[in-house]
Formats: sequence, C-alpha cells, structure tokens
Amino acid sequence: MKTFAIALLGLLMTIQPLKATNQPEKPIVIILLGAPGSGKGTQAVELGQAFHIPHISTGDLLRENIKNNTALGQQAKSYMDKGQLTPDELILDILFERISKPDCSRGYLLDGFPRTSAQAHELEDSLRDKVQFAVFYLKVSDEQVIERLSGRLICKKCNRIFHKTSNPPKQEGICDSCGGELYQRSDDKPEVIQERLRVYHEQTKPLEEFYRKQGVLNEVDASGTSGDVLKTLEAKISELHPALSTSKI
Ligand code: AP5
Ligand code: MG
Repeated sequence: MKTFAIALLGLLMTIQPLKATNQPEKPIVIILLGAPGSGKGTQAVELGQAFHIPHISTGDLLRENIKNNTALGQQAKSYMDKGQLTPDELILDILFERISKPDCSRGYLLDGFPRTSAQAHELEDSLRDKVQFAVFYLKVSDEQVIERLSGRLICKKCNRIFHKTSNPPKQEGICDSCGGELYQRSDDKPEVIQERLRVYHEQTKPLEEFYRKQGVLNEVDASGTSGDVLKTLEAKISELHPALSTSKI
C-alpha cells in the first residue's frame, strides 16, 4: 500500500508540471495549405520566428538541390520548370529526412507539403499519434494568385519574399534584410503559373476535404494584406496551442 502511494505521488509529480504550464504533450505540425501564391512562404517565415519552430518548404529544399546541382535537383528541375509536381517518392525522402532533424523536436511548419493524396496519407501514417496536426487553408482567388506571382521577387541569398507593388524592396533589386540580389522565380512565368494553378486544383485542393474530415482544418481568408493574414494565423495558433506561443527554446 505504502509502495503504491509513493508510486502514485511520483506519477502525480510528473503530470502536474505539464498541466500547470499547459505544455502540449506532442510536437505541433502546422500545415499551410493553399494555392501557389496564396502566401504560404510569406506567412511561414513570420510564424516560424514568432513560435520558434522551423519553417520547412519543400519548394525551397528542391531549389536548394537545383542550386547545388544534385541528382535530386536535376530530376526535380524538369518538373518544376513545367509547373508540375515532382514525383512523390523524391519529395517524401527529402521531407522525412528534414523532419527527423533535432530542431523539429517541438514541432515545425510545413509549407508546400503535402501536395497530393499520397503525400498526405504517408504523413498521416508516419506521424499519427506522435504529433498534433493543425492545418491552415489559405484561401485566395485565382486572379489574386496570378497578380501576386507575376510581381514576386525573391532574395538569392536569404530567400526573403517581396512583391513589386504590394511589398517592394526599399532599393530596387536589393534585399532589405541582407543586401542580396533579388530575382524572379523561373516558374513565375504566365504559362507556368497557369499550369501550377491547374495542378493545384486537380491534385492539392482535394486535401482540403481530407483534413476537414479529420477535424483539423482551419479556413483562413488570405485575400487581405499579409499583416492582417498573419494576425489571424497567430491568433488561431495561439488559441489552438496556447503553450506554443509562450514557450521558448
Ligand atoms: P513551391 O515553392 O512550394 O511553390 P508554390 O506552392 O507554387 O507556392 P509559391 O511559393 O509560388 O507561393 P506561396 O504560397 O509560398 O506564396 P508567397 O508567400 O511566395 O513549389 C514549387 C514547385 O516545387 C512545385 O511546382 C513542384 O514542382 C515542386 N514541389 C514543391 N513541393 C512539392 C511537393 N510537396 N510535391 C511535389 N512537388 C513539389 O507569396 C507570393 C507573392 O505574393 C509574393 O510576392 C508575396 O510578397 C505576395 N503576397 C503574399 N501574401 C500577400 C498578401 N496577403 N497580400 C498581397 N501580396 C501578398
Ligand atoms: Mg512558397
């Protein structure tokens, strides 16, 4: 009886601090779902800094591979230049390798993944019961997508995202943050944008229903300014996971 009481006390002492600080027991996986140009990258950078979790963009990982001329980069380039999705098996390898790194232990933000039903199922099968999913679907019109992507500029050095009119750099062609040179992505050409949109509606949009059925989908009107969208996302994330907003690394 005495042994049982001591064991029970020990158990309560372990549980109590978790309750008091409202720490999530599992890592948070925040998925930003949305059309090309809906603002996934723009928001993910800010949210990653605000909540101290890494921002993982499969598009950025692929572009890094292209820059370094790896075998994966060479394979991915032909698909990306056409606005088509890179095959699932290539993406799954780099994604799972990245999320296994120690900086992902508290959680992470996924930008541009999953993009297909196979990717969503693979993520679900691998992480179910190990993490808490929170999916934010950034809603914008196709017209906004075209306008945003046609004017996008990106820093070659730090990947910061600008827009020629809605978010221009202070000095033309130069990144405000690091002084790097700004460039236009090769897939931001009108005909490739159209194909990316078509592919999005066909292969990625159905994930909205997949996550709605699981009860983890949050719809966000992403047609306002990026500052307004950020406020909405920060508020929703803090509400869903209060411990995340206050915890420090
Ligand atoms: P990826 O790099 O993921 O591109 P994407 O999904 O097409 O999305 P974008 O990066 O174009 O848009 P975004 O939503 O990040 O918008 P951003 O914040 O930059 O993928 C590229 C390719 O890689 C794919 O086509 C595919 O080939 C391959 N790939 C990647 N992941 C894959 C996967 N999982 N499976 C298979 N293949 C994969 O904003 C856009 C512009 O809008 C900017 O100029 C910004 O300043 C501006 N802006 C943002 N928010 C606002 C706002 N609220 N108001 C006004 N302007 C705004
Ligand atoms: Mg992006």
